[in-house]
Amino acid sequence: MGARFARRWRLAVPALLGVLLAGCATGRLDATKPIGEEARDIDGLMRLSGWMAVGVGIFVAAAVVTIIVKFRAKPTDDPDDLPPQIHGNRKAELTWTLIPTAMLVFLTIYTLGTVFDLARASDGPTIKVEGQQWWWQFSYDLDGDGNDDIVTANDLVIQTGEKVNLEIHSNDVIHSFWIPQLNGKKDAVPGRVHHWLISSDEPGIFYGECVEFCGLSHANMQMRTIVLTPDDYKRWEQEQLAGKEAAQEALVEGSAAAAGAALFETHCISCHVVDGVYESAAGGNANLLAGIAPNLTNLMSRTAFAGALYETYQTGPGGEYLRNPDGSLKVNVAELREWVRNAPDMKPARADNQQGMLDFSEVLTDQDLDNLVEYLKTLGSPPVLP
Ligand code: CUA
Repeated sequence: MGARFARRWRLAVPALLGVLLAGCATGRLDATKPIGEEARDIDGLMRLSGWMAVGVGIFVAAAVVTIIVKFRAKPTDDPDDLPPQIHGNRKAELTWTLIPTAMLVFLTIYTLGTVFDLARASDGPTIKVEGQQWWWQFSYDLDGDGNDDIVTANDLVIQTGEKVNLEIHSNDVIHSFWIPQLNGKKDAVPGRVHHWLISSDEPGIFYGECVEFCGLSHANMQMRTIVLTPDDYKRWEQEQLAGKEAAQEALVEGSAAAAGAALFETHCISCHVVDGVYESAAGGNANLLAGIAPNLTNLMSRTAFAGALYETYQTGPGGEYLRNPDGSLKVNVAELREWVRNAPDMKPARADNQQGMLDFSEVLTDQDLDNLVEYLKTLGSPPVLP
């Protein structure tokens, strides 16, 4: 083995490991840095079983090497001379049965404890999670009267130090909800309600993906959990409620936004609700398999749109938000406008198959699109960022 060969291996092994481990932390999805208590429980269990497996692996490999070396045929051996023949060895058999059994029993108890811990309900608030092709909706019933007071899409907003109960539903096919840094995966199954806890010790934006293959745009069905401090969360809640009131205020007559509202009423309200203004879609008129399209009441308060595939506000190369001279966030007008114009072009969907938004490129003029975007910009205040 030449020095060059050894040098190549020194480079190749870390490179190969890098490729393999990249699957654990790709971009913004990172399962290796748990932040929430639930994610830490899962991480602890994974590390424990992982290290036990490493121990077993090292022991077995060492035994194999020892046996190969120690009992190899020597040139002085007589090929007709057989080693002593053994029938059973109680001590050895008990050892290799009892040790693995004890290890598995220990792991089972530890795993079941974690599973039951994760399945427990907390005394925190409950948020309804609905998966559909291809986005997530989150509904908050603040006063417990059975009516949703806040309905949002893509952004699940929670506060630090609170264990939130999620009630996970699906409105069409099977999806799976996963925010890697906060908790494990939980399927969203039509006709069933799955309970799941989520919490975080620190404020931040934590990214997630649908992790059950659910059709054409499965890979584009993203979501994020925005964790705010209790003060910020209170502000978010108030702004969400205020956004419903603001949506009902009359727009300035003759403005682009007013023209956009008229277009919205013609083209959008058979699927999209704006609370207190366009409720018709609430009756389930949406010509969609799921029966619902995103509620747009507080659209501008969300950091992302189109299944969290596009940013509502412009970001720089490091993901930081770009701001106008007055400090306000820069709306991502270009992509928002393009989304309204031809959504299937920006995210694969089959509107003819009752999946996703229609292509309006033949319907709306450039002026119409500008006006519609002006109207959308009036829906809700900017997001409360952690
Ligand atoms: Cu929803 Cu995959």
